[in-house]
Amino acid sequence: MRQSGGPRLVERVRGLAAGGERVLIGIAGCPGAGKSTLAGRLATELTAAGLPAVWVPMDGFHLADVALERLGRLRRKGAIDTFDGHGYLALLRRLRHETGTIVYAPSFDRDLEQPIAGAIAVPPEARVVVSEGNYLLSGEEPWPEVRAAMTEVWYADLDDRVRLERLTKRHVRFGKTPEQAVRWVAEVDEPNAAAIRATRASADLHVDIDALALSP
Ligand SMILES: Nc1ncnc2c1ncn2[C@@H]1O[C@H](COP(=O)(O)OP(=O)(O)O)[C@@H](O)[C@H]1O
Ligand SMILES: [Mg+2]
Repeated sequence: MRQSGGPRLVERVRGLAAGGERVLIGIAGCPGAGKSTLAGRLATELTAAGLPAVWVPMDGFHLADVALERLGRLRRKGAIDTFDGHGYLALLRRLRHETGTIVYAPSFDRDLEQPIAGAIAVPPEARVVVSEGNYLLSGEEPWPEVRAAMTEVWYADLDDRVRLERLTKRHVRFGKTPEQAVRWVAEVDEPNAAAIRATRASADLHVDIDALALSP
């Protein structure tokens, strides 16, 4: 299934929300594919279209450096075992069912490269939560349950050449030297990308990121 164009995505979510229950949309995809950019834009467009929506990134469940150091995993931050998957799952379940109070979610600060607890408020009136991250379609525990907690999971498609260029630039923007960025992409991001790409076929929808022509 292929679909392009922001308005069509908004209409798709409107259809999912018609039953009245809060809708949880997940966006999976490789590092640098544009998941966060799309999620932020979609939440804004949904809200403007009368469906209050909040962007809640999976990246908020990065383990803190202090925990990664203890586990000896700091040097491959971003791999599947450097996230608190069960914590994310618990939050998604709360977001789905706990609609009478504000639910707070963690964000991920790219300057500090650390998760920040309680940074994002999802108020009772939120009809849609847009989440996104690398591993939403993974078959490893507990990720199948994460997928089951979502209404739909989409996959962000972007040409690999463009993706790698944007990803490398983003690393440089947040403090790596060009050499460090290239090495991090090759040694950390791309092994993760291979595993993520293998989950693509199980998405409910494939979103052509370039066809959306989002500005960053
Ligand atoms: N349409 C676009 N044109 C140019 N750069 C973009 C575009 N969309 C996203 N970007 C940039 O590409 C990088 C990767 O996008 P991001 O949304 O962070 O990807 P992901 O969340 O999948 O890792 C970011 O630096 C972002 O600003
Ligand atoms: Mg992102």
